[in-house]
Amino acid sequence: MKRVAILISGGGSNMIRLVESMTGDHPARPVLIASNDPFAAGLAKAEAMGVPTAAVDHRGFRGDRAAFEAALLGPLLDARPDILCLAGFMRILTPGFVERFQGQMLNIHPSLLPKYPGLHTHARALEAGDAEAGCTVHLVTPVLDDGPVLGQARVPVLAGDTPDALAARVLTAEHRLYPAVLRRFAAGQAGRIDL
Ligand code: GAR
Repeated sequence: MKRVAILISGGGSNMIRLVESMTGDHPARPVLIASNDPFAAGLAKAEAMGVPTAAVDHRGFRGDRAAFEAALLGPLLDARPDILCLAGFMRILTPGFVERFQGQMLNIHPSLLPKYPGLHTHARALEAGDAEAGCTVHLVTPVLDDGPVLGQARVPVLAGDTPDALAARVLTAEHRLYPAVLRRFAAGQAGRIDL
């Protein structure tokens, strides 16, 4: 059975879908939900689901990313994860941290990468006049929102879409894609998923 730790910064809706998926014959189980924000709403939701949580407030480190990550590594390594899932984790990780989990760390990003790495993905898709949008799960490498794609899900852009309306549609696609990719990845199966 693979051990999965999930890093969040906010509401944790993707985290919830991942945790809920890891039952029965699923090859993985959640062992830790960790956040850089002690007040992240997702932490209480994880506790309600009976998953151990940890919070390391990045604000105490005043921009010293390496020191923040060293503190985060404590609870993370205690949980002995085989797989690390970033799910709305909004801190940029240093190459040192990423390399430590190379090949084991997944991220979900709300665009069809390589389009729109970084922030404000939905507004950028609308500004570009794209006919479709979506989300990507990829392996994390030291380059931001880069790395081998494990799966993508597409949704249409509709007339009159606002960034918020498009974000909500993409989020429902994220909730289908991430559990599907994690299951496949945890089972050691190659190939990508397209939804
Ligand atoms: C999701 O849309 C995720 O793709 C995005 O944050 C949201 C988190 O929602 N992640 C990024 O933008 C990473 N750069 P959630 O907390 O409800 O899962």
